Amino acid sequence: MNKMAARAIAICVNKMSALCRIIRVLIVGVPGSGKGTIASRIVQSFGLLHLSSGDLIRAQIAKASEFGREAECFVQQGHLVSDDLVVKLVLNELEGNRERSWLLDGFPRTVQQAKKLDAHYDLTSVFHLNVPTEEILRRIAERWIHPGSGRVYNLSYNPPKIHGRDDVTGERLEQREDDSRETVLQRLRGYDAVTAPLLDYYSKRKLLVTFTGVETDVIWPQVEKCIRDSLLQK
Ligand code: AP5
Ligand code: MG
Repeated sequence: MNKMAARAIAICVNKMSALCRIIRVLIVGVPGSGKGTIASRIVQSFGLLHLSSGDLIRAQIAKASEFGREAECFVQQGHLVSDDLVVKLVLNELEGNRERSWLLDGFPRTVQQAKKLDAHYDLTSVFHLNVPTEEILRRIAERWIHPGSGRVYNLSYNPPKIHGRDDVTGERLEQREDDSRETVLQRLRGYDAVTAPLLDYYSKRKLLVTFTGVETDVIWPQVEKCIRDSLLQK
C-alpha cells in the first residue's frame, strides 16, 4: 500500500471512530503465538488501547515495586503470577479507561481471572491465535524486545533496522529473561493446563473467533475485518 492510500484509510478510521461503539477485545494464544505483534497492528489501524499483562508485570519487576518483587520468581520460572495479584493490576489499569475501546493481551489467562473480568465488563470478542507448537520455539529463540515500550522484533521475521537497537528510540534491545528454552517449555505446559480451558469458556459464550496459521500477513486481513465490523455494529 502506498503512503497516500495508507493516509486515506487512517483518516477514514479516525472519522469512523466518532460513529463507533466501544469495543472490548481479548487476544488469547500460546506464548509466542504473535499476540503482541497482532496487537500492535490493531493499535496502529484502530487506535484501541493495548494492555499486555506481561508488559505490565515486567514494568513492575523493572521498578522493583512490591508487586514486582513478588511476581519476579514466578515469571522467571515460567509460572503464572497469582490470580488475585494480576486481576488487581489489570482492573486498576482498566478503571481509568472506561470510555475507551481496549484490547487485552495475555489477560485473562485462567477461568478464575475471566470470571473476575466478566463481573466488571462485557466483552465484544475473544481472538484466539492458533499457531502450531513447532513454530513457537523457533520464534521465541529469535525474539528481541524494547523493554521501555514492549515493541517486539524477530531476527528473521521483523528485524530492527539497526541490529540490536529499537527502531524508534535507538535504545538497546534485550531478550526476555523468561525466553530460555526450558522456561518456554514450562510456559507452554502451563498454557495447556490452565489457559486452554478458557477457549471452551468463551466459546460457550459465543465470543470466540479462532485464527489459524503462521503468517501474520494472512491472519491480519481477517482480524482487521472482525474489528471493523464490531466497531460499526449497533
Ligand atoms: P506474556 O508477556 O503475556 O507472555 P506470553 O503469553 O507467554 O506471550 P509472549 O509475549 O511470549 O508471546 P506473544 O504471543 O505476545 O508473541 P509475540 O508477538 O511477542 O507473559 C509473560 C509472563 O507474565 C507469563 O509467563 C506469566 O508469568 C506472567 N503473566 C502474564 N499475564 C498473566 C496473567 N494473566 N496471569 C498470571 N500471570 C501472567 O511474537 C513472538 C515472536 O514471534 C516475536 O519475535 C515476533 O516478532 C515473532 N512473530 C510474530 N508473528 C510472526 C509471524 N507471523 N511469523 C514469524 N514470526 C512472528
Ligand atoms: Mg507478548
